[in-house]
Amino acid sequence: MNKQNVGWIGLGKMGLLMAQNLINAGYLLKVYNRTKGKADLWLDKGVKELQSPAELLKESDVVILMVSDDSAIHEIFTSENGLLSSPEKGKIIINMSTVSPAISKEMAHLSKNNGNSYIDAPVSGSVKQATEGSLVIMAGGDHQTFEEVKPIFNVLGKLALKVGENGAGNAAKLAINTMLGLHAQGLAETILFANQQGISTKDLMELINNSALGNAFIKIKGEAILNDKYEAAFALKHIAKDLRLAKNEGLDSPLANVLNHSFQVAEQDLAEEDIIAIIKKIV
Ligand SMILES: NC(=O)c1ccc[n+]([C@@H]2O[C@H](COP(=O)([O-])OP(=O)(O)OC[C@H]3O[C@@H](n4cnc5c(N)ncnc54)[C@H](OP(=O)(O)O)[C@@H]3O)[C@@H](O)[C@H]2O)c1
Repeated sequence: MNKQNVGWIGLGKMGLLMAQNLINAGYLLKVYNRTKGKADLWLDKGVKELQSPAELLKESDVVILMVSDDSAIHEIFTSENGLLSSPEKGKIIINMSTVSPAISKEMAHLSKNNGNSYIDAPVSGSVKQATEGSLVIMAGGDHQTFEEVKPIFNVLGKLALKVGENGAGNAAKLAINTMLGLHAQGLAETILFANQQGISTKDLMELINNSALGNAFIKIKGEAILNDKYEAAFALKHIAKDLRLAKNEGLDSPLANVLNHSFQVAEQDLAEEDIIAIIKKIV
């Protein structure tokens, strides 16, 4: 595959960092972002900003999407100058956003009808892992397309696993994010209970981080709580969205139902704060 011809759509918190890794690895990127100017930091690197998804597809062999949600995907594919409006064929579209399996299946089908391939490849990990290129990538699509884009995945992540056909990557991601939500709310409830008993957050986190229950997520989010810093690495609105998507896919278990309720309520006030801001809504 021509290393020069990767196009990137979506320069948000994750997309900007992931695209940066491809630039560092020598992929001369072309980009499209709804809000203009986010690619200005790469002007001296020769990165070209295009005016529409269709233009980007024309100038790239592979187009990667990292945007918010189903409605963003819908717009990028089906709007007047969207990906599906282009007559280009033989391209590969990789959707790394966390979206529903249903929209992936639909866009994969429509892309195929246009002569292009589609692979869903959402990621586990946040801004730290995106910066390090150590994301975990779960993919849905055909074997040949997956193998073709593997060199790109190797730049962005430490593991890329194909888990099934189109939509399967998204389903795996919804399962993992259910666990992520449980971790966040579990940590929040644990800290609140310990505080109630007169144990400081600092002491409790030192105990947890040195125990078998310690992990990277708990460590980072414990520090956020300790420092009262809730600026979003992973916005609470995104986990609220993911739990809604999981519910739509049939997730209906005791903990997941409570979790979904908590985050839907919290989203009303804390949408733009970090996932761990859930601690402010547990009373
Ligand atoms: N942050 C994390 O830790 C993390 C971790 C794993 C997975 N994810 C998932 O990765 C995806 C991106 O997350 P993020 O944190 O990077 O989100 P973000 O910072 O909110 O960025 C969202 C991006 O989507 C674009 N966008 C939104 N609506 C659009 C529309 N209708 N048409 C075109 N573009 C649109 C935004 O463009 P503008 O610049 O114009 O707003 C922006 O580039 C989400 O699906 C999220 O669930 C996030």
